[in-house]
Amino acid sequence: MDTKSIHGMWSSRLAFILAASGSAVGLGNIWRFPYLASDNGGGAFVLIYLGCILLVGLPIMAAEILMGREGRMSPVNTLRKLTREGGHSGGWTVIGWIGMLAAVAILSFYSVVGGWTLHYVWLYVAQMFGGAPITDPGATFGALLASPSTLVFWHSMFMLVTLGVVAMGVEKGLERAVKFLMPLLFLILLGLLAYGISTGKIGQAFEFLFKPDFSEVTGDTLLAALGQAFFSLSLGMCGIMTYGAYLPRDISIPRVAVTVAGMDTTIALLAGLAIFPVLFAFGLDPAGGGPGLIFTSLPLAFNDMSFGIPYAVAFFGLLFVAAWTSSISLLEPPTAFLVEKGNMSRKTSAIIAALVIWAIGLVTALGFNVWQNVRVFGRDLQGAIEFVASDIMLPVGGLLIAIFAGYVLSRRITREQLSHLGDFGFQAWRFLICIIAPVLVLIVLAAKILG
Ligand code: TRP
Repeated sequence: MDTKSIHGMWSSRLAFILAASGSAVGLGNIWRFPYLASDNGGGAFVLIYLGCILLVGLPIMAAEILMGREGRMSPVNTLRKLTREGGHSGGWTVIGWIGMLAAVAILSFYSVVGGWTLHYVWLYVAQMFGGAPITDPGATFGALLASPSTLVFWHSMFMLVTLGVVAMGVEKGLERAVKFLMPLLFLILLGLLAYGISTGKIGQAFEFLFKPDFSEVTGDTLLAALGQAFFSLSLGMCGIMTYGAYLPRDISIPRVAVTVAGMDTTIALLAGLAIFPVLFAFGLDPAGGGPGLIFTSLPLAFNDMSFGIPYAVAFFGLLFVAAWTSSISLLEPPTAFLVEKGNMSRKTSAIIAALVIWAIGLVTALGFNVWQNVRVFGRDLQGAIEFVASDIMLPVGGLLIAIFAGYVLSRRITREQLSHLGDFGFQAWRFLICIIAPVLVLIVLAAKILG
């Protein structure tokens, strides 16, 4: 018999696919992937990243969805339910707690960067109506980072729109938003890709993204690629698990997992193929661009090209939309948790979660100016939060999820949840989740700690 989540349910397979790919496709694809790829030497990073998606990301995505659908609650309570019913140690609940902490940490800086995209949309819209042009993008970006009030203002706006959707609930908020926003995102991206092709530099972009130079690969490259695979697929912190909790029983998990991972990877690569040709066409070197890459280099191109300003509005609008559909999936787990915990309504719960995360986001915002000299793990505050959350907590969370789904959860439950797989497919999933995924994650984490 199918059970329902108290938080609501996706109305169809398509709704889940849009929501989960809305979560997956985000700043990770369009902002983070290009600068990580160029800072880590291009092709080799991309290949390792693709390997991580297939061997680690896909099986863990299936595991998260099936755990969520079995538990039908927020991560912490899903883990509580699964361990209690199966007679396993309640210690496994730590997976849910790590997940919730990671969601809070990620959303805290994600919202600040989401705010940058809003700020840039605003700057270019203003320019359409006669505002001052951005002639020195480095200086414009620097000025944004130097201004606590501007950063905090846009960070607050971004949290507000995220809160707006989550407060309205699964069907009326999340589902309605992604049904409209995801097709829009795809359309804008296709337009940008067409422009990338028209620059004549698409060949160079291909070479950059796909021609591997393994001499540059270090332990850091491996960790960055694995961390990015988790980050981009929204894995390791139980975000997809939360979405899985709202998935009707008759829908095939392997099928939706493959679709979502495929969409996410396609969009990251398409974003690369839209962005790098523009950089090359304007003689810009992407290497070492860091988190500011697209903000400091693309505006140079926007200035020089015909229809550059509307193009810029479309580009940063795309970035904002992508970030928005992801941030709602980061606010959903803590919100669902608070709903289950107290006798608070969804609205109150969402507001409390958003306020706490907003406050933590101030650390990131002030880390760019007031606390710009503070170093944690040799990084600035934003870099440190991003590193701990996405390169450490996500892989550790993912590792625990793999072990739990592979060794702790009864095979009867996983077989039932993955009933759409044939016997061979199920054995293949077991092999990936029990052996390949944990071993790869462990190797990468060990390489990091020892290296
Ligand atoms: N995947 C999103 C991106 O690529 C970010 C994100 C949303 C995320 N939910 C998550 C990352 C959960 C890790 C875990 O931008």
